[in-house]
Amino acid sequence: MNDVAKAAALLRAGELVAFPTETVYGLGADARNPAAVAKIFAVKGRPADHPLIVHIPDASHLDRWARDISAAARAVAAKFWPGPLTLILKRHPDVPDCVTGGQDTIGLRVPNHPVALALLKAFAELGSGGIAAPSANKFGRISPTTAQHVRDDLGEGGESGVALVLDGGPCQVGIESTILDMSDERTTVLRPGMLSGFDIGLFLGRMPAEAVNTSSVKTPGSHLAHYAPRTPLLLVPDDTVAIALRTSIGKRERVAVLAPFPAPIEHPLIVAWHVAPADADTYARELYATLRALDAAGADLIIVQRPPWPAAIDRLMRASAGSGP
Ligand code: TXA
Ligand code: MG
Repeated sequence: MNDVAKAAALLRAGELVAFPTETVYGLGADARNPAAVAKIFAVKGRPADHPLIVHIPDASHLDRWARDISAAARAVAAKFWPGPLTLILKRHPDVPDCVTGGQDTIGLRVPNHPVALALLKAFAELGSGGIAAPSANKFGRISPTTAQHVRDDLGEGGESGVALVLDGGPCQVGIESTILDMSDERTTVLRPGMLSGFDIGLFLGRMPAEAVNTSSVKTPGSHLAHYAPRTPLLLVPDDTVAIALRTSIGKRERVAVLAPFPAPIEHPLIVAWHVAPADADTYARELYATLRALDAAGADLIIVQRPPWPAAIDRLMRASAGSGP
């Protein structure tokens, strides 16, 4: 049996499988099996009222999981799936409560990754075809973009609760999907991602609203403290990296820096310096691996120059709010 077939059989047996998607690695369970879904919450340390995204093999599975789906929502699914987009729709009555956190809506996504799609197809032949999966990291911490990140955070086999980690190489998008609420007449971006609300609006012929909330239960990923390193992280506006650096060095703090230019000086207190990529796609693809490296550099403070892109700013603001031991 190859790894994908093995993973599908493990899901069918109620085990957890971590798998790659184009955004981040997910920690998957059979979405129709409440005991399996409960294991996700236990392994992640995630509060039970946080709903999970259900991954499906293609849009033809929509009606098994959602109801009252608008023509506009079907059109968005047809246009942007497979891809880094989660649609929030009214849930089908058969969906277990533990998946939706008891809400009357459900998050659905078709990921654009060959391993994820192969797994979903194999699991649709064996079981429900719906894989409930949050990012495969401990709750509140940095999302994994490689199989090794998952093994570092959660382990694999034995007592870890993760039966298997499928390795599909580094994720190509690098930050989590855009979450678009189309469960009622309003269309709202609940979480920004690399598929922009603007591009969705161009397709729909009207711009979606942007959620302004910072801490709603509806989208717990929007809790202000999230995606966080253990080292305190300071997000600074353009051209103020030098000021922040001088302040820290003045206080004898060791610093690790992410900025779009090389270190202006060599200094024993500058323990790591990553030159940020100049384009949005590369910046997003590398962001979480870079944050992990900066977090591991032994610094007292991580200084990040705020990039010009909304989805990356969103994750960095949450990383900053949640950072620290
Ligand atoms: O790119 C992604 O979306 C990745 C990959 C694995 O697909 N998944 C991911 O899952 O980021 P997670 O659990 O870390 O974040 C999912 C977000 C959470 O903030 C959750 O609250 C929200 O989606 N969500 C899920 N169902 C929802 C619902 N019915 N209504 C509102 N928000 C929902
Ligand atoms: Mg997450």
